[in-house]
Amino acid sequence: MFIHDSHLPQVLGPEAYTTDEFLEREMEHLFRPGWHFIGTLDDLPDEGSFFTFELFGKPLIVWRTKDGPQTFLNVCPHRFSMLTHEKQGCRPDRLVCQYHGWEFDCEGTTRKIPDAKSFRPMKRGELGLSQFRTETCGKLVFVSLAEEGPNLGEFLGKGYEVGENLFGEHRRQILSLDYEVDSNWKIKIENSLESYHVDFVHPATFKQTPEESICEHVLEPRWTSFATTQEATSKIERGLDRFIHHVARHERDGKYEHYHFYPSMMYGKMALFSFAETVFPIAPGRTRILAKFFAMPGAPERWQSRLLFRGLRNYGRKFWPIVAAEDTSVMPDIQKGMESGQLPSRGLISVREERLFHFQEFIHAATGGTPARRAAAAEGAAG
Ligand code: FES
Ligand SMILES: [Fe+2]
Repeated sequence: MFIHDSHLPQVLGPEAYTTDEFLEREMEHLFRPGWHFIGTLDDLPDEGSFFTFELFGKPLIVWRTKDGPQTFLNVCPHRFSMLTHEKQGCRPDRLVCQYHGWEFDCEGTTRKIPDAKSFRPMKRGELGLSQFRTETCGKLVFVSLAEEGPNLGEFLGKGYEVGENLFGEHRRQILSLDYEVDSNWKIKIENSLESYHVDFVHPATFKQTPEESICEHVLEPRWTSFATTQEATSKIERGLDRFIHHVARHERDGKYEHYHFYPSMMYGKMALFSFAETVFPIAPGRTRILAKFFAMPGAPERWQSRLLFRGLRNYGRKFWPIVAAEDTSVMPDIQKGMESGQLPSRGLISVREERLFHFQEFIHAATGGTPARRAAAAEGAAG
């Protein structure tokens, strides 16, 4: 059942989706101080594994050391070259700059400088890499560009506990999607927050919008969730679902769950799959989306589990990119509508879309909202 019983106003005006000024407010209040999910421990399988990632214009390198993942600015203190442009790789003991070969240890301290005497006088370890706070939640790796502030557990709140469960050691990554879309970051989030578009956008994948009676919404100050238990329509699909849960030795709850932890972290769970998804604004009308999908490997010593895992992986690698492409296909058109400069109404949000209203209220409060819509929001609250 839904929580509200009558329709809700569109809280944010088009300026919130289209202007540099509004994005700068979001960067200041929400993104720069926050923690960001940028990869997983499965992306760093061994000690020495690394991946690189550009976060809000800063080139980063995340390196798995004996103390766990560490994040450094991927810029050399000598003459500022990026240490490496590789997306992924392995450096067991030292990071080595690609330009003149300076070497750095797992604390980012300079260890070896070719022809060091030509830099005299210089103290040992004087110049090092800049480091950022890095923490994990289950297998998810988060980084914060802010030197101070809450730790990851405080920042995610309930999302920490849910993440530990959905992305723990008992899950294995099967797919990584990293792509950009021509729309504001909130258009992507809002799309994920409502089941209303399922009939039109996902007729072949999610098939049909679930009835209100089997929808459960939770609206908390800093997060919301949606859960539904929708049985497969055919007898064969239901039987198959029971069978794969039996082989994976995992209790079947038949639930689809979706969580949004503000401002931009989303988790989902469907059958033996789970996924973590986040967004990075690039410009008011351009967004980078990162999503990692996991499946249950079951008991790897049993051949049935190994076979099932392979089947799940193949299925997931086909299914999830189709869902993403279906959603992505409408987002640039929503952005164009927002940019039209002449909206035909103030917009309207249904009770089925109430998570989206709650999110807009959060953005409104965190940034001061858009002047044109403060009155509408007040009207909506009064009504
Ligand atoms: S710029 Fe890195 S070693 Fe010179
Ligand atoms: Fe969708």
